[in-house]
Amino acid sequence: MKGLILSGGKGTRLRPITYTSAKQLIPIANKPILFYCIEALKEAGIKDIGIVVGDTKEDVMNAVGNGSLWDISVTYIEQEKPAGLAHAVLISEDFLKDDPFVMYLGDNLILGGIKGLVKEFMETSPNCHILLSKVPNPSQFGVAELHNGKIVKLVEKPEKPKSDLALVGVYMFDSYIFDAVKNIKPSWRDELEITDAIQYLIDKGYNVQPHMVKGWWKDTGRLDDLLEANKMVLDTIATRIEGLVDDESRVDLKVVIEKGAEIIKSTIRGPVIIGKNSKIINSFIGPFTSIGNKVTVKGSEVEHSIILDGSSITDIRHRIEDSLIGKDVEVSKSPLKPKAYRFMLGDHSKVGVL
Ligand code: DAU
Repeated sequence: MKGLILSGGKGTRLRPITYTSAKQLIPIANKPILFYCIEALKEAGIKDIGIVVGDTKEDVMNAVGNGSLWDISVTYIEQEKPAGLAHAVLISEDFLKDDPFVMYLGDNLILGGIKGLVKEFMETSPNCHILLSKVPNPSQFGVAELHNGKIVKLVEKPEKPKSDLALVGVYMFDSYIFDAVKNIKPSWRDELEITDAIQYLIDKGYNVQPHMVKGWWKDTGRLDDLLEANKMVLDTIATRIEGLVDDESRVDLKVVIEKGAEIIKSTIRGPVIIGKNSKIINSFIGPFTSIGNKVTVKGSEVEHSIILDGSSITDIRHRIEDSLIGKDVEVSKSPLKPKAYRFMLGDHSKVGVL
């Protein structure tokens, strides 16, 4: 059994962060989303993994390398443009050959892993397993219509969904999927849709089995979902304090403070993770916050947010909440007169001021 992780695409819904980095490398609890996918496959016993890469291939290759970090073998498959999930399968045929495989979308996170599902797929050998989860907003996903437990119809992002069952971004296939991806036509958004390829399998009478995901699942393609994923993962951490916490600071509940980090005259209310060599001075860090490496927070309050490496937040009067702050960003009280907001924001940035 092989693994195929899709780490190409554009990440338009997470601009401007994705102008400079792959969306699959955005950290959740200070670990790139992509690493969670790799670990889920490894835990299911899959050690031969192909990673489909696009424009951000250098970043992805630098982060994952040859896979030795996880004792797996990694093959990179270059996709010239994001022509769809089924297109990604099509260009991976040389790597996948006749082996059954798990396709894992590199921006999806499933708590609890996929070990049991892979085992069942291996034991029962259908042509395809799809995973489904109830969602409040089905029109943003591929949607499945079931009849007596069998899939009758799959539609990609329907305007009027026939059910609230979304296709989760983990699929298991045998080699008949190549038949399908070679025979479907591009959709209205000019992509070869995996949803259409699976519908092709169903129409041709192949055995496609649906499975409800019991645990928690998130497609992290949007900011709210990313923050929610961060919250869920932070909720599972155990306290570990390797940095320095001075006598005037308070650290409550589940908190990770990495080596070289310093907490001075501050309150950290977990679940929170503070990365290596970060400094929190005269500040409050509230629940569900991930602070990356070499970040400085001084005279400020941050809660339910993700702050990436190298950024600094200084003397901000109101609490920062529900935010994703990129790498090497400076947020500070303007020292100059006249009193005014002073911004230098990249394209597609979003700012909420009081
Ligand atoms: O997250 C589940 C949903 O994922 C499913 O419900 C949908 O049926 C499925 O089409 C997919 O929808 P998205 O619109 O969220 O897919 P997205 O474009 O975000 O791509 C998913 C991952 O695959 C992401 O890591 C980028 C990568 N990708 C995407 C395309 C279109 C590629 O590597 N190559 C591509 O050509």
